[in-house]
Amino acid sequence: MQITSIGVVGSGSMGNGIAQVAAQAGYEVTVFDISESQLEKALNTIQKSLAKLEEKGKLKESPKDILARFKKTTRLEDLKGCQFVVEAASENRDIKFKLFKELDSILSPGVIIATNTSSISVTEIASKTKRPELVAGMHFMNPVPLMTLVEGIRGLQTSEQCFKTVRQVAETMGKVFVEAKDAPGFVVNRILMPMINEGFFALAEGLASAKDIDTGLKLGCNFPMGPLELADFVGIDICLAVCEVLHKDLGDSKYRPAPLMRKYVEAGWLGRKTGRGVYVY
Ligand code: 3HC
Repeated sequence: MQITSIGVVGSGSMGNGIAQVAAQAGYEVTVFDISESQLEKALNTIQKSLAKLEEKGKLKESPKDILARFKKTTRLEDLKGCQFVVEAASENRDIKFKLFKELDSILSPGVIIATNTSSISVTEIASKTKRPELVAGMHFMNPVPLMTLVEGIRGLQTSEQCFKTVRQVAETMGKVFVEAKDAPGFVVNRILMPMINEGFFALAEGLASAKDIDTGLKLGCNFPMGPLELADFVGIDICLAVCEVLHKDLGDSKYRPAPLMRKYVEAGWLGRKTGRGVYVY
């Protein structure tokens, strides 16, 4: 079956990026969020991103034509007609488990539900549905419109055909697909988050200033952003959540979250999205 319509659950920074690249790829897209104002904000972000891409000659169609394939809703049942769904809701186990149960009862049999989780077990998410063979991980990178990678994660129950379709959809969106096992942090976050965490340990120890830590990694390793700048960009709460999963599930003390990272989250200094993180915006 040719997939022409995609549902996206959640319209935060990952969800709106996924919706955008799906619409750019020619899919009819329905985006669900519980909050109407969040959906408005998402649409605004997508419009700005499309305008920027058009300015650079990176779009095959006008933003207007791309946006014409885009629908938003606050009713999950409106995803009923979608042929493929990507869930990008909050990185919270209970929220994801509940959503997967609901989506399973709403969507037609045979529809794949992919999760953009950055750290939760795909196998466990799949087990909340009656179609576990049709659940897989589809881990996009932030900012989705610019980052080329999608990590595909096969849960224990994921069928070969389902995984093949997930790869096809990711490639149609113009992404490069790599396969990772369903293990804590998969590949990217397993390696990236300990580096970010170490940035917080270094800052707390007074090894160098935040700016010098970031400049060190940017100019010393040719990274586009230093670890602390990247933590602010991704969200320090997200970084902490991934570090906690790595620590708990891998059981090795080397993954313990830096106390300073936790303090930032306790203060509500989550990074760019709250106007303050390691840096002030
Ligand atoms: N859509 C369209 N254009 C965008 C955009 C978007 N969403 N975001 C930025 N741009 C444009 C900017 O407007 C700018 O345009 P200009 O050249 O005309 O001014 C251009 O892209 C470059 O942006 P900036 O000048 O702001 O900054 P950079 O050159 O540093 O590029 C970046 C921005 C691509 C974000 C780069 O800094 C980068 O690659 N950073 C690292 C990102 C990264 O590591 N992401 C992965 C995070 S981990 C993850 O997502 C996993 C999760 O599970 C936690």
